[in-house]
Amino acid sequence: MKILHISAECYPAAKAGGLGDVVGALPKYLNKEGVETAVIMPKYRTKWLKEQDFEVLMHGTVRLGMYYASYAIEECLNEELGFTLYVVNCPQFFDRTGIYTDENGGGFRDDTERWLAFQQAVIHWILGLREKPKVLHCHDHHTGLIPFMIRHGVEYNWLADLPTVFTIHNGQYQGMFSWQLEQILPYYEAFARPLLDWAGAINPMASAIKCSWKFTTVSPGYLAELRANSGGLEWLVNNEIGKSAGILNGIDAEVWNPKTDKLLDIKLENGDIDSFKKKNKEAIAQKFGVRADLPLLTFIGRIVSEKGADLLPEVIGRYLKMGGAASFVILGTGDPSVSDAFRRMAVHFPDRFGCALEYNESVAHQLYAASDFLLMPSRVEPCGLNQMYAQRYGAVPIVRSVGGLRDTVEDIAAPSGGSGIRFDTFSVEEMTQVLHRAMQLWWDNALTFNALRQHIMGIDNSWEHSTAQYLALYREIAAV
Ligand code: GLC
Repeated sequence: MKILHISAECYPAAKAGGLGDVVGALPKYLNKEGVETAVIMPKYRTKWLKEQDFEVLMHGTVRLGMYYASYAIEECLNEELGFTLYVVNCPQFFDRTGIYTDENGGGFRDDTERWLAFQQAVIHWILGLREKPKVLHCHDHHTGLIPFMIRHGVEYNWLADLPTVFTIHNGQYQGMFSWQLEQILPYYEAFARPLLDWAGAINPMASAIKCSWKFTTVSPGYLAELRANSGGLEWLVNNEIGKSAGILNGIDAEVWNPKTDKLLDIKLENGDIDSFKKKNKEAIAQKFGVRADLPLLTFIGRIVSEKGADLLPEVIGRYLKMGGAASFVILGTGDPSVSDAFRRMAVHFPDRFGCALEYNESVAHQLYAASDFLLMPSRVEPCGLNQMYAQRYGAVPIVRSVGGLRDTVEDIAAPSGGSGIRFDTFSVEEMTQVLHRAMQLWWDNALTFNALRQHIMGIDNSWEHSTAQYLALYREIAAV
């Protein structure tokens, strides 16, 4: 194995958001380029993981202060993934159905211990490998202490020269914890203490930016934004900018192919976009009880403030109250109060508003295929994949100009004709306005709309481009 990805999520084993999609796809494309790549993640109690067979490779124990946790490293025997998947089986911390939260949506109290145990188990395993990976690629704060640990952990610095890449998918979660928990860290060289610290706390994301050989963000736009606004890390990001790169995520064009998508009952046939969209819309309209003769606008994703979901009840509610001629469907889980607002709207506007407040991969695919527009009013969006899925499935993305959304969606007012509709300011007024623009396009300019739809379905957002950029980055630091 040349590249080892270390991550809290990996599709289809466990996914909470885009991190899972990326770690489930990039390794496959690296392998296709002939660069042997594997993934290691925790073994959660998810349906997919429960259905797999595993071979146990080693047993071990990690120390967390006065406590010990035992684990096993196991190899998943599934051969269809396109990469080798290893898991850390540590039941005490990971034999849970949720990745980050319990059944009621509450966060876990032992998060610091969980990620420390995971990271140490991974390092123990690598220490024992006869042939070491050439690059460790860590994702988000859950794996952010690995670059520090292998350089300065007294038991681990056999690996001190192993090149590391750290990718920021979401800079808002930094995994900070108090110095009072210091004793649960593995032993490390005392002089290196400042490399753990940021603003008086132990900060895994900050430590990774300091200690990794290269750090990346999931779009160039997001890297620029982090320099100005990164939850207190601005100075650090600017200081380390020389070793950074903004690499746009791709989408897995094999999973997300309207012609072959296994999760779609109605696929794209003979290039007949009209019938593909119409039939899918009819099926979804029936499922959610909304009208199929109106344009369909959807929101798919986590119902959280980061994604701007809290704007939707008001914007959609106002529009429907005015008698707006559109159908809306929401799919996702998250904030209970916003979810309640959606439930009420489904009662008030039964033929124009529907929602499924759950995580459901199949319905998500069907919704992209059915939608005329996809709403993404994100407050922050490091890359965003949904706008690219939407484009591929012929749904025009309506996005706020932020992070990766700005990098992947051009407004219809652009000389090129654009690839979506954008708005700048995060407000009910601006989003309402943009909704009116979209409706105008739909009702008054059908020809333009159809041309736009055809254009966006042909945009190539596949992983090949980004894979080449990651490869170039790896080759700057290792012989892969
Ligand atoms: C996070 C970000 C999202 C990005 C994804 C994959 O979920 O919020 O914007 O697309 O990671 O990198």
